[in-house]
Amino acid sequence: MVFTARFNDGINRKLCVAPMMDWTDRHCRFFHRLLAPSALLFTEMVTADAICHAENPSRFLSHSEAEHPLVLQVGGSDPKKLFRAIKLANKYGFCEFNLNVGCPSNRVQSGRFGACLMEEPDIVRECLMAMKEATDKPISVKCRIGVDDMDINLGLDKFIQKISSSGISVFYIHARKALLTGLSPKENRNIPPLNYERVHRLALQNPEKVIILNGGLENKDDIISKQHDFHGVMLGRAAYKTPFILSEIHSHLTGEPLLEKHSLAMKMADYADMVIENGGNLHQVTRHMLGLFSGERGAKYWRQQLGELARLQPHNSDLIRKTAKFCCAKTQRKVA
Ligand SMILES: Cc1cc2nc3c(=O)[nH]c(=O)nc-3n(C[C@H](O)[C@H](O)[C@H](O)COP(=O)(O)O)c2cc1C
Repeated sequence: MVFTARFNDGINRKLCVAPMMDWTDRHCRFFHRLLAPSALLFTEMVTADAICHAENPSRFLSHSEAEHPLVLQVGGSDPKKLFRAIKLANKYGFCEFNLNVGCPSNRVQSGRFGACLMEEPDIVRECLMAMKEATDKPISVKCRIGVDDMDINLGLDKFIQKISSSGISVFYIHARKALLTGLSPKENRNIPPLNYERVHRLALQNPEKVIILNGGLENKDDIISKQHDFHGVMLGRAAYKTPFILSEIHSHLTGEPLLEKHSLAMKMADYADMVIENGGNLHQVTRHMLGLFSGERGAKYWRQQLGELARLQPHNSDLIRKTAKFCCAKTQRKVA
């Protein structure tokens, strides 16, 4: 069975890149957009507090149109603040607003949001209703299959049922539990076992909802086969560490040719010129590109040049051009 959503808001969620704090900033998203023109990109999480109390909310919300379609992920548990945050964010061109109900960090828990909200579906429902009230764009949730000793069968069903009564239909599900005490956020992304079957059952039992699978997806063929079981997939670490996988999946989904790494690097060098002209530095851009040649000859050299050397040469975007030429020659790719 190939999933085609009965619910259709015009957003293509076949391939999504997960929100990742400190990683999926605007430079990273520009890079990912070149790799996968059809992908749905997410911002890092921004708290409703940060948006509401900022002297200049643009600091958190502005981005380039080239990144579209782009989802803003927010964190919070106060419906009034979430309403105000979405009202403020509404004019920035995001295509969807997503509530983070999956992050297990202590900082987030002490603010009573993130994954601990899975135990408070009534609050989540109120938050979602407030967010809906503030915009006519779709509202979605990113959550786990459960937290702590919550029952991943009945508990998850009840949670989804309850929060769906707010009128939302789109769910990005990280297919593992979050354990709220004793594990660091990093451990919580690795230790609790993945359970794709549970998410698949949720999708089968709720054909009117859009269910996107997230967690541990890193093998291209596996990801492609998951397109048959879910409305889409969301890649986190694999998209960041092996970014060319985005081009491979985009190419599979659309029939468009694979991107040429050399011309991609030239576009990123031009982008770096613009960032540098505007007061930024080379490493802010190149740090997201370190995995481009992952698994190929020249990968280590690429990482060294764009990692360590880019820090020492903050205004030299030619470093990208020269290193790409060298690495593409090593892997015998066409150099334009
Ligand atoms: C560095 C890092 C930062 C993250 N920040 C967020 C975040 O801001 N919001 C969120 O919902 N999830 C966040 N996550 C979790 C990812 O969105 C994703 O759910 C998780 O990494 C599992 O997917 P993966 O196995 O494909 O990486 C983060 C993950 C990483 C590695």
